[in-house]
Amino acid sequence: MSQLVVRQLLIDLETPVPVRWHEDAFVAAFMNALSMSFPVGEQFFIDSLRRGMKELPPDVQARLAPEVSGFIGQEATHRRIHHLFNQHLQNQGMVNHWAPRALKRIAKVEKLNVRHAVAATAATEHFTATLAHWLLSHPELLANVEPRLRNLWLWHASEESEHRNTAFDIYSALGGNQAWRLHAMRFVSFFLLSDLLRQTVNNLWHEGSLFKWSTWRGAWRFLFAPQGLFRSSFGMWRRYFQADFHPSQDDDSLSRQWLATHQAAYSPVGQSH
Ligand SMILES: [Fe+2]
Ligand SMILES: [Fe+2]
Repeated sequence: MSQLVVRQLLIDLETPVPVRWHEDAFVAAFMNALSMSFPVGEQFFIDSLRRGMKELPPDVQARLAPEVSGFIGQEATHRRIHHLFNQHLQNQGMVNHWAPRALKRIAKVEKLNVRHAVAATAATEHFTATLAHWLLSHPELLANVEPRLRNLWLWHASEESEHRNTAFDIYSALGGNQAWRLHAMRFVSFFLLSDLLRQTVNNLWHEGSLFKWSTWRGAWRFLFAPQGLFRSSFGMWRRYFQADFHPSQDDDSLSRQWLATHQAAYSPVGQSH
């Protein structure tokens, strides 16, 4: 069990964030799309783990409670910050189609046994941990963006990597089986990637970059170049399908390192800084 610190990111989100905050139109649109999914998605993770915890015997609950409360604090902070970020996008004409679609799907999942919601959370958390690992290992991607936005993405990435075990461990504690864990990952992968692509394309359309050759050259580089997101993250994503997989097997040294070297960027909640 890991000790999770809730950190308040010290960030100015009153100054407007331009839609094209990254020099590459595709990267900005892709990450804006991800941000649009966070307030709804992270609320679902919080609700799923809260519901999952209630199903556990009191001694297991007591053992997991400190970590779950750290997880909830971290995700609640992420969704609040991304909500502020998203408002700047909305003020510039971006339309979040992903959140309402996700809400409909979540409503269906929440009618099933709570184990399915926790399995979907664990699968999505593996996605976020994979993306986080890639972001932290490619600092050049965000080298030229405003420092406040670089901190926002790398703080979020570091905490995703830090709390990567929590949902998985609740699923195991609930007696969730392997077959449904993998089924949830297939389901989550299909919807997450298709929603992400749809919202990215929509963002590019609103922003006026959809039909530019440079946008798709950037997309190719970002996704499919040898160091690109898909090519270098596919192996980590696929490890989820191994029978003996546990998220703690993934390396979190880059997350620890970022958090240790950027203490000026955040304030641990409940502690003076
Ligand atoms: Fe998060
Ligand atoms: Fe998370």
